[in-house]
Amino acid sequence: MSRFSAMMIFLTASVLLVLVPTSRAGAGWEYKGPLGPDLWHTEYPDCAGRMQSPINIDTAKVLYDPDLQHFDFKQYKQCNNCTMELENVAGHTAEVVFHGQPITIKGGSLPDEYVLDQFHFHWGENVSLGSEHKIDMKSAPLEMHIVHHMKHFAAKESATHPYGLAVLGFFFEIVPEHNDKFDVLLKHFEKISHKGNKTEIEPFALLDLIPEDAKTYYRYFGSLTTPPCYETVIWTLFTNKIKIDESQLGVFRTLKTVAVGGAEVSITNDFRPLQELHERNVISNDRNALQSVVHMLAKEIREDIKKLQQGCGNINPSKSNAAPAPPASTSCVIIRCLTSLVALGLLLGWKAVGRV
Ligand SMILES: *[C@@H]1O[C@H](CO)[C@@H](O)[C@H](O)[C@H]1NC(C)=O
Ligand SMILES: *[C@@H]1O[C@H](CO)[C@@H](O)[C@H](O)[C@H]1NC(C)=O
Ligand SMILES: *[C@@H]1O[C@H](CO)[C@@H](O)[C@H](O)[C@H]1NC(C)=O
Repeated sequence: MSRFSAMMIFLTASVLLVLVPTSRAGAGWEYKGPLGPDLWHTEYPDCAGRMQSPINIDTAKVLYDPDLQHFDFKQYKQCNNCTMELENVAGHTAEVVFHGQPITIKGGSLPDEYVLDQFHFHWGENVSLGSEHKIDMKSAPLEMHIVHHMKHFAAKESATHPYGLAVLGFFFEIVPEHNDKFDVLLKHFEKISHKGNKTEIEPFALLDLIPEDAKTYYRYFGSLTTPPCYETVIWTLFTNKIKIDESQLGVFRTLKTVAVGGAEVSITNDFRPLQELHERNVISNDRNALQSVVHMLAKEIREDIKKLQQGCGNINPSKSNAAPAPPASTSCVIIRCLTSLVALGLLLGWKAVGRV
């Protein structure tokens, strides 16, 4: 071997070594294994940010905002001069992509009109898991994400622009009744059984898939739940759930991906683990979110009254062998009346605020 060819081999090897990390990036990401969520940030640094999704929604900490507007879903009523393409995307999810005439949403206190791009799903191997977001640490068996981009930007540009994306999330609930409206979509799933399969489907109204009452929701600012995890998403998670039956959920689990060893396996648990809330807040136009505050307040008042009453010599009923209390004085009776009135006033005040 000449010195020159040895040199060439050395150079080629060096180039290959340098290239290896780049080609690993091409390998993409997965929900499990060596390309799993814990390591997404090595290839996609935004995945380690402080505004990541999904999150757990702690309903006791949700702030009530009665000014959050309802959405205008008028354009979800039809897919006019528009086409829908169903795809088993990289063995990660089932996704419907819209082409042609743009469909937009308005309202929802969004800073702009947003154009519909696609919707897709996240589900689990059993009903106790599957959704990406959790409510009070509880998963739903399935979560649908409807992805839109800001009308004033192209879809690609929107993805990196603050508030560039608006994603509407719907949780699912398993009920005994079959949801006929979902069959317009599910009947096509057999055509996308395998990783990467893609097929054009007969267009239908997206409005048929969402709950009739989609007015109340949770709102927070977060990210894409898959790499590159851009922190540009205005999240809306509706409080009313979509109802389907067990067999319909089963259709999602018939979709296949390719495991690390090359074997074909069902797509399940295609959700990202929970991310920290950090300094963010979740707001909601659902009065139930406020009721938790009223509840807390009422409990505090009851406890205060109890303390006052005990101070005035009432017997704590749980301590039956406590020493008999002296009879209540006139001043104690007055204190009791006053505290009850104040408590009542506070509760009525809170309820009135809730009605505004
Ligand atoms: C239908 O869509 C095509 C392609 O998006 C467009 O060129 C055409 O003008 C549209 N037709 C109508 C009637 O909107
Ligand atoms: C659901 O699947 C998860 C993940 O494998 C498992 O930990 C859990 O025990 C299962 N729950 C039920 C009810 O089967
Ligand atoms: C689905 O994907 C499989 C595996 O890649 C392929 O063999 C098959 O032809 C595809 N089917 C369709 C309808 O595209």
